[in-house]
Amino acid sequence: MDRKQLVSEALAAREFAYTPYSGFAVGAALLTKDGKIYRGCNIESATYTPTNCAERTAFFKAVSEGERSFEAIAIVGGPAGKPPVDFCFPCGVCRQVMAEFCKEDFKIIIGKSEEEYEEYTLDDILPHMFSEKDLRK
Ligand code: THU
Repeated sequence: MDRKQLVSEALAAREFAYTPYSGFAVGAALLTKDGKIYRGCNIESATYTPTNCAERTAFFKAVSEGERSFEAIAIVGGPAGKPPVDFCFPCGVCRQVMAEFCKEDFKIIIGKSEEEYEEYTLDDILPHMFSEKDLRK
C-alpha cells in the first residue's frame, strides 16, 4: 500500500467538500483489498442532520458498488480553502461504519499532508467496539 498516494487521493477528494455551514472540509480515500480507491468528501445540508461525513461517503460509494473487503482509509480535514493544519480523526458514527465492514488489519491513516500522517487500527480508535459478532453470543 502506498500511504503517500492514499493521502494524496484524500486531499484531492477534499477539494469537492460541500461545507457552506461549517466551513470544515474533509476528504477520504478508501482502498479496497484489490487495489481500487473510492474517494469521499463531506456533504452538508441546510437542515444539518442529513450531513454526511467524508469517510461514510467513501464507504457508501464503495459498498453500493459491491465492495466488501477494505485495506485502508486515508482522512484529511480542516478549515475549507486552506491546507489541513491538524490531524482530523473520524467521528464516532464513521468509526462504527468501519467496524461494520473492516477487519483487525484495516489501517486508518490520518494525514496533514503527503509527508505528515499517522497510522491507526480500528481497535486503537474504537476499543471495545460492538459488532455483528456480539449479536451471535
Ligand atoms: N466531518 C467529516 O466529514 N469527517 C470527520 O471525520 C469529522 C467531521 C465533517 C462533518 C461536517 O460536515 C464537518 O466535518 C464539521 O463537523
